[in-house]
Amino acid sequence: MENRQLDVVEVLLTGVCYDRNAELDENDLPPAIRTALWTGDGVSRPPKPDEDALAEAVGVDDPWAEISGLMFTDRDTFSGTISVTDEEMLEDWYLERADRVRFQNNPTLAYEYQDHADLALDYEQARDENRPVHADPQYIESQLDSYFDEDDEEMLDLVEVRAPAEIEITLDQLVLTQDQSTEVRKVAKAIEHRDYLAEIGLREIGKLLFVGPPGTGKTSVARGLAHQLDLPFVEVKLSMITSQYLGETAKNVEKVFEVAKRLSPCILFIDEFDFVAKTRTSDEHAAIKRAVNTLLKSIDEVSLIRDDVLLIGATNHPDELDTAAWRRFDEILHFPRPDETMRKGILDLVVSDIEIEDFDPDEIAAETSGLTGSDLRLVLREAVLSALVSDRTTLTQEDLLDAVEDFEERDHMRNLETIEEALEGEGEHEHDHDHAPTP
Ligand SMILES: Nc1ncnc2c1ncn2[C@@H]1O[C@H](COP(=O)(O)OP(=O)(O)OP(=O)(O)O)[C@@H](O)[C@H]1O
Ligand SMILES: [Mg+2]
Repeated sequence: MENRQLDVVEVLLTGVCYDRNAELDENDLPPAIRTALWTGDGVSRPPKPDEDALAEAVGVDDPWAEISGLMFTDRDTFSGTISVTDEEMLEDWYLERADRVRFQNNPTLAYEYQDHADLALDYEQARDENRPVHADPQYIESQLDSYFDEDDEEMLDLVEVRAPAEIEITLDQLVLTQDQSTEVRKVAKAIEHRDYLAEIGLREIGKLLFVGPPGTGKTSVARGLAHQLDLPFVEVKLSMITSQYLGETAKNVEKVFEVAKRLSPCILFIDEFDFVAKTRTSDEHAAIKRAVNTLLKSIDEVSLIRDDVLLIGATNHPDELDTAAWRRFDEILHFPRPDETMRKGILDLVVSDIEIEDFDPDEIAAETSGLTGSDLRLVLREAVLSALVSDRTTLTQEDLLDAVEDFEERDHMRNLETIEEALEGEGEHEHDHDHAPTP
C-alpha cells in the first residue's frame, strides 16, 4: 500500500544513515532517493533535501504537509530545506512502521540495520538489486554538463545519450535468433565478470558488429541491451559526424569516444558503420580521411575491460566494409530477415495489445516471406488504421491479410522502380556495344 508519509520519512532517514556511514556511496541509494538528495554532481554529506527535490522524487505535491506533524523534523522556510532535529526519534518512528521490504530495497538502510535480528537484512543483495548511479538521467546530465562547455555544446547534437530508464524497448519485446540470444548472454556475462577477464588478460572482447538489412532489429537490440544491463546508451550516426563541421570531424570523433569513456560503464553505438568504407575509397576531403583514421584508431584504443565501454557498430552494407574496419570487431552478429517461425513470434509480440478476431499468426507468417520485423510492424499499423476508418477497434484476420497484400504491392512498386533503373543502366550498356568500333 502506498504511504507517502513513510516515503518522505524514508528519504530523511536514508540521508541520516548515509551521512553516518562514510563507506557508502551513491550506488547505495535507491534511485528516487538519490534524485531527492542529489545536488549538482553528487550526493554531499550531510544531504540537505529541499522541498522541491523531495516533491519530485517521492511524487507528492507538498512533502512538508506529509511530515509537518512529526516531532523530529523541521523546515527552513527561507531555503525550503527539510532537516532532522532528532535522529533517535526518527529511527524509532520508522522502525516501528516500515516493513522489512522497505529496508531490504534500500541498500543504505540494509547496511545500517544489518545487525537488526528481526529484519534479517542482506546488504550485498540490496546493493546488487539497486539500479546503479551511472544509469540515472541526472547523473548522465551532470557528467555531460561538466564535460562540455558552451563552445562544445553543438557536439551534443551529434551524439544522442539516453539513460537506461529512458529506453522504451526491452529485449523481451524482440524475437532473437539463436546466435543473437547467445551473444546477448555472453556480453552480459562479460560485463558482469570484467574484473575476472582483466585478471586473466582477456582483453579482446566487447566490440560487436551488427550486420543485416534495414529493419531487422539492430538498433533495437543494442538499445534493449542497454536497458537490460542498466547502461547509458550513447548513439552516433557516422554520416552525421563526418558531414557536419568538416574541418573538425577528427576532433569530433575523438570527443564521441571521450563522452563514452566519461559516461562509462556505457554502450557506444555507432550506426551506419559502412560510411567508413565509403569515405576511404572515394577521394573526399582530407579532413574526412583524417576523421576516419581517427575513428579506426579510437576503436583500437577503447576497451570494455579497461574503459568499461561496450562498442557496437551496425551496418546494412557489409559488402562495403574493408578489412581494416572488419578486423576491429571481435564478434560479428548477423541480423537476417526473419524466417517463418520468427515472423510468427514477432507477430505474436506486436499484436499483444490488440484485439483480433480469428487471429491466425501462422497464416500471416506463411504469407509474409521476406518481410522484416519493421515491415511486420508497418503491416499491423496499416491494418489498425483501415479498421479505424470503418470505426472498428477490433481487427479481423482479413484486415491483416489485406494489409499484407497492400504492403506487398507497395514493396513491389518500389522494386519496379529499381528494376527500371537497372534496365536503364543495361540499356546504356548495350548502347555502348552498338557503338563498338567497327572492325
Ligand atoms: N526481431 C525483431 N523482433 C521484434 N521486433 C523487431 C525485430 N526486428 C525489428 N523489429 C522492429 O522493427 C522496428 C525497426 O527495427 P530497428 O530500428 O531496430 O532495425 P535496424 O536493423 O536498426 O534498421 P536500420 O538498419 O534501418 O537502422 C523496431 O520497431 C523493432 O521493434
Ligand atoms: Mg538502426
